Amino acid sequence: MAAIKSDSVSAEGSLWVGAPTPRFLAPSETPLSRFLDIVRESERQRSAPGVDWDDGPRPFRVVTVTSNKGGVGKTTIAANLAVFVRALREDLPVLVVGFDDQLILDQMFALTTGSHAVNVASAIRMGSLNSAIRLGQYGVHYIPSSEDLPDLKRAIEDPFRLQRVLMRTGWQGLVVIDTKSDLEILTQNALAASDLAIVVVADRPSLRQAERVYELMKGWGRPLERARVLLSMVDLRIKYDHGQTQDVLGLLVSEIRRRGFPLFESFLSRSPLIASLYTNPDGQMQSILHGAENSIVRRQMQHIAEDVLGLLESFDGPLPVPGGGPAPVAEAATNAGVGAEPPAREVDGENEEPSLETEENLDAWLDSAFERVNRSGEAEG
Ligand SMILES: Nc1ncnc2c1ncn2[C@@H]1O[C@H](COP(=O)(O)OP(=O)(O)OP(=O)(O)O)[C@@H](O)[C@H]1O
Ligand SMILES: [Mg+2]
Repeated sequence: MAAIKSDSVSAEGSLWVGAPTPRFLAPSETPLSRFLDIVRESERQRSAPGVDWDDGPRPFRVVTVTSNKGGVGKTTIAANLAVFVRALREDLPVLVVGFDDQLILDQMFALTTGSHAVNVASAIRMGSLNSAIRLGQYGVHYIPSSEDLPDLKRAIEDPFRLQRVLMRTGWQGLVVIDTKSDLEILTQNALAASDLAIVVVADRPSLRQAERVYELMKGWGRPLERARVLLSMVDLRIKYDHGQTQDVLGLLVSEIRRRGFPLFESFLSRSPLIASLYTNPDGQMQSILHGAENSIVRRQMQHIAEDVLGLLESFDGPLPVPGGGPAPVAEAATNAGVGAEPPAREVDGENEEPSLETEENLDAWLDSAFERVNRSGEAEG
């Protein structure tokens, strides 16, 4: 253990182990006083009441992507949702926040490498995300991830703290939160702050985990419709030759309906294209919009983003945009390449069904798959 020498106690009384207090720091900026500021701030926040999200107009909406099960596609969905929303609605600023210590979002959005003075953990401790917000790739704003999130988790007990932090941040636009595969306090904070929770389900185990999200939301008195299941990594090559359901899509849809969980009409197929966006010779993560052109997953992701925007507006009216009215959606989409028809990129196995050779086949395939999700709902409901 380092000995504390007498000369290491500064005139202000700060303890400085191993060296005197640097002269360029003002008294209020010493490490100890900074630490005490953070402690005081977190105490103040801890004793402050939760915000009633329905209390009045807010300049932002929050979407949280969650699943207690790992590897179901949460980060993929959160990151690409941000990119597609930005492309569909040029007037709507999008901020991505990651509650995972894997730093994957940084690989997608950071324009420069290197560590940042303020990251998501330190910003939450300080009570506002403002000083951590950075403009990233694709015009999406992001907050540098942090490996200190486990420490932050230990310091937080209140599930409504993020609500207050977001209110203080005052972001104008949409906030997309990617959570870790747990239901611990940071995930709870994200869920408590969300206008819409996207509950990702890829299989039966993740469906069972989804039940816990609904229980949590119910405990807070949040309406059921505020959490919606999104099917991810759906592999339609998996077929069944017995029972009423013919494939994995039908099976999961009927089980979700039986539980009464709201379900997105669109879903995301399992696609090797998505995996290739994560791991490729360029060493950089690409978005589905820019790297998986002319593919089923690109169309599906666009549908998902449109559904999310539609749901948010159906809940609470037009999305808050800084100044001016909303940009025409079709125009914004075309400008950003959504709906344009770039050349196909080939990855073996991308087409889930062998007959998908033309653009019309792609659209027809998607239409019939989405329709099947709807029909299963009618049959069950
Ligand atoms: N629809 C998909 N088709 C094929 N691969 C996918 C798909 N979605 C995600 N993947 C791949 O699966 C892996 C896990 O995806 P992702 O990181 O998005 O999941 P996650 O739920 O965020 O995981 P974690 O629980 O570790 O945070 C990644 O390698 C990703 O490329
Ligand atoms: Mg993840």
